[in-house]
Amino acid sequence: MKIGIFDSGIGGLTVLHQAMITLPEEDYLYYADTDHVPYGIRQKEEILEFVDDALRFMLEKGIKAVIIACNTATSAAIQTLRSRYTIPILGMEPAVKPAVAREEEGKRVMVAATPLTLREEKLRNLLHQVDKHHTVDLLPLPELVRFAEREEFTSPAVEEYLTQELAPYRAEEYSALVLGCTHFNYFKDTFARLFPSSTELIDGSVGTVNHLQDILQAGNLLEHGSGCVEYYRSGRKADSPADLARYRRLHLRLEEMLRF
Ligand code: DGL
Repeated sequence: MKIGIFDSGIGGLTVLHQAMITLPEEDYLYYADTDHVPYGIRQKEEILEFVDDALRFMLEKGIKAVIIACNTATSAAIQTLRSRYTIPILGMEPAVKPAVAREEEGKRVMVAATPLTLREEKLRNLLHQVDKHHTVDLLPLPELVRFAEREEFTSPAVEEYLTQELAPYRAEEYSALVLGCTHFNYFKDTFARLFPSSTELIDGSVGTVNHLQDILQAGNLLEHGSGCVEYYRSGRKADSPADLARYRRLHLRLEEMLRF
């Protein structure tokens, strides 16, 4: 059976990319809810409905576990989904814990995510537990999701948007920038330019995939498949030559971003 990976759009490919490195013999079903992207500016109830529909679709196709490779959908829906379905459902949350643990004296941590992720209870509870010295700053960057969906990763408009959003902050004060939205991984080169080299860029893909590996192992669910991926966009199979060329381009971009 396949591993399901879900996102509102192309952000979850960062997790799929990592999963294909760590678990290359598994087969995957990647589901992007492109009819409804971006999620980050929507209401929680609406997102829960969309993700529930997607999960039912993936279950009908036969998946043994799913990663909600979207911090926003995780914040909005994961508890309800776990109460409705019995397969392992893994989510993503901004990797604040490791960032704070590595915090340097006098330095701060910035968490960039969608507006919904930043305002939801899940992150508030996490901050309450780990941000003991109030060194974490929150930065919503909803436009980055739109840029990413247009495959606009390095344009002057991207640079201008990020420069403007970061203007109120002093980049040299940050020991870490947490990428709390899977779409933001496509912009690591620009972030690396806007922050000093001492600022670590932290995303949750590796941790999430390692966690998946542990869960599959514990449940005796690891398989030797052929490493195939089927892509779907809001329930429609995405297998035209143009679709596959787009996914190849995006994987190449993610391969480049592994350097940062
Ligand atoms: N990729 C998603 C995340 O990790 C959200 C993008 C969106 O706003 O749809 O939060």
